[in-house]
Amino acid sequence: MKKYFFIVALVSLVCLYNCSDKPEKQAVTLKEPTSIEELGELLFFDPILSSDSTISCASCHKPEHAFADNVPFSFGVDSLKGNRNTPSAMNLGDRFFFFHDGRSESLEDQAKGPIENPVEMNLPLSVAIDRLKRHKQYDAFFVKLFKRRATIEDMTTAIAAFETTLETADTPFDDFMGDIDTASFTASAKRGRIIFNDKAKCFDCHFGPDFTADRFRNIGLFNGKDLNDSGRYGVTKNPEDIGKFKTPGLRNLLVTGPYMHNGMFKTLREVIDYYDTPDKFVANSVNRDSLLAKPLGLSETEKKDLENFLIALTDRQFVKK
Ligand code: HEC
Ligand code: HEC
Repeated sequence: MKKYFFIVALVSLVCLYNCSDKPEKQAVTLKEPTSIEELGELLFFDPILSSDSTISCASCHKPEHAFADNVPFSFGVDSLKGNRNTPSAMNLGDRFFFFHDGRSESLEDQAKGPIENPVEMNLPLSVAIDRLKRHKQYDAFFVKLFKRRATIEDMTTAIAAFETTLETADTPFDDFMGDIDTASFTASAKRGRIIFNDKAKCFDCHFGPDFTADRFRNIGLFNGKDLNDSGRYGVTKNPEDIGKFKTPGLRNLLVTGPYMHNGMFKTLREVIDYYDTPDKFVANSVNRDSLLAKPLGLSETEKKDLENFLIALTDRQFVKK
């Protein structure tokens, strides 16, 4: 009984805030942005862009998790769950493709997806723009920074501009590459780097400054049964793309787990164990890349070294002292 009362009270409280669809009446006063990036930051953190004003981009892309989430599948409006893991929204400035299947080719275009997605923010873009125009502060911000009232294009330009500020490079690995403070890149991480490049063949797919070659590859996580997200195939309809996913960057992994498009691995150690012996984890995978044809044969120490190398790619702002 008590519990029931509590729930009713909670629902009415939430309703007081959200059921009126009058976002301009929310009491929060926003700090005036001085640039388009700062306007984008306000929008990224503002639930005004979701149907019931409860979910912002940051509800799933959490700053403390390098703008990823720490659950396999995030919750959108009405506690609805998506079917893919939330990737980090950091270090995307140099990418060509967005989403695990690469269905979007710019950050501006990408930003429209979650706002309209029924299980994420579920708000038609035209309604989003309407709300921003009716919101006294946002209306003034857009006029000041874009010289016109809010449009879909300017809203997504602002969000994308904020996202391109989210680059990270304060890591032991970057220090080592730049010959400064090389001691923080431990002996184990150094050995791990060599394993990453050679024996474990990680570098064949994960290369470049952010460790993604921006290609679509199949590491064996599709079997058409319990693992039935066909990835890139959904976009191209080319049978060769069945089970291929965008090779993700590897920065800030310490705080972005669980891993893979479906969040199936909780820890980096599980990821490494998977690459070492994929068949032990997924039976009958379809079209797995030939780089993963044979077990890697990594020893316990080699696995630990590889893990330490991956951890050394995490920006210091995310490492607890
Ligand atoms: C309900 C959770 C949720 C919300 C809210 C959300 N996202 Fe996402 N985001 C995801 C998921 C899940 C994916 C991957 C979806 C896929 O690949 O199909 C994703 C993908 C992305 C990507 C692509 C990353 C990459 O590596 O390709 C970017 C960028 C992004 N979101 C930005 C945003 C922005 C901007 C907003 C707000 C307008 C937003 N997200 C709102 C869950 C969310
Ligand atoms: C054949 C290309 C290929 C090789 C080789 C490869 N990867 Fe990957 N890696 C990928 C792709 C593609 C994904 C995304 C798969 C998905 O989302 O289902 C991925 C995902 C990951 C992830 C998860 C990232 C995240 O944010 O969810 C980690 C960690 C990772 N790889 C590390 C490694 C390591 C360590 C090695 C070497 C042992 C390696 N990879 C070898 C292509 C490859």
